[in-house]
Amino acid sequence: MKERGERIVVLTCYDALFARLLDAAGVDLLLVGDSVNQVLAGAETTLSATLEQMIYHTKIVRRGAVRAMVVCDMPFLTYQVSAHEAIRNCGRVMQETDCHGVKLEGGAAMAETVRALVDVGIPVMGHLGLTPQSVHALGGYRVQGRDEKTAERLRADAKALEQAGAFAIVLELIPAPLASQITKSLTIPTIGIGAGPACDGQVLVLPDMLGLNDRFNAKFVKRYAALAEDVREAVKLYAAEVREGRYPGPEHSFPK
Ligand code: KIV
Repeated sequence: MKERGERIVVLTCYDALFARLLDAAGVDLLLVGDSVNQVLAGAETTLSATLEQMIYHTKIVRRGAVRAMVVCDMPFLTYQVSAHEAIRNCGRVMQETDCHGVKLEGGAAMAETVRALVDVGIPVMGHLGLTPQSVHALGGYRVQGRDEKTAERLRADAKALEQAGAFAIVLELIPAPLASQITKSLTIPTIGIGAGPACDGQVLVLPDMLGLNDRFNAKFVKRYAALAEDVREAVKLYAAEVREGRYPGPEHSFPK
């Protein structure tokens, strides 16, 4: 798609119901992000996401995906300890979920692990910039690569991932001109989130863009719907109708 100049459409997805809808709407890649731990499970960060949790969500997303590529986000400490452990854990994900690839965070420091995974046949997507599993080391959820030293490191990290065999790289929360430079320097696609319009594709967290997670606000999120409001209104109406005896009506009841 990068070679053809076609933009790649990516959304996070955590279950079969939405996987079916997104797949039918033509989304190219469903990312089972470890953001599920925050968005659906209510945790503060992604750090406590577990391998079992990611396997469960990836399995059910895969059931709903007919055409889209499905990628599982590897949780914290399942790939950082050694390449050997990474192969075991990513291999388990591929085997048990039938997904098409894994995503892991980190640049040059992860290159050897990425190479080892690719060498055993596991497609790997990288993730640079604001890497949420390092949120405490980065001092919060803030834009990365604003200074030249960090920008240079990100450029080198992207190259290292490409050379290690990654098939794509997520660029999260980096200045648009830097994302553009990195995108032009690579033959593999970049998928941006808060990284400007020059990336080869874009990803958003599904409940954020649907306006379902209306507690989360960020400059880069565009809300394409207001589902939280729709849910509140629908549930209020249902509650009122149940309390007033208006639901169920005859049309929802069985006469015999
Ligand atoms: O966990 C996630 O949802 C992600 C995306 C934001 C890229 O990693």
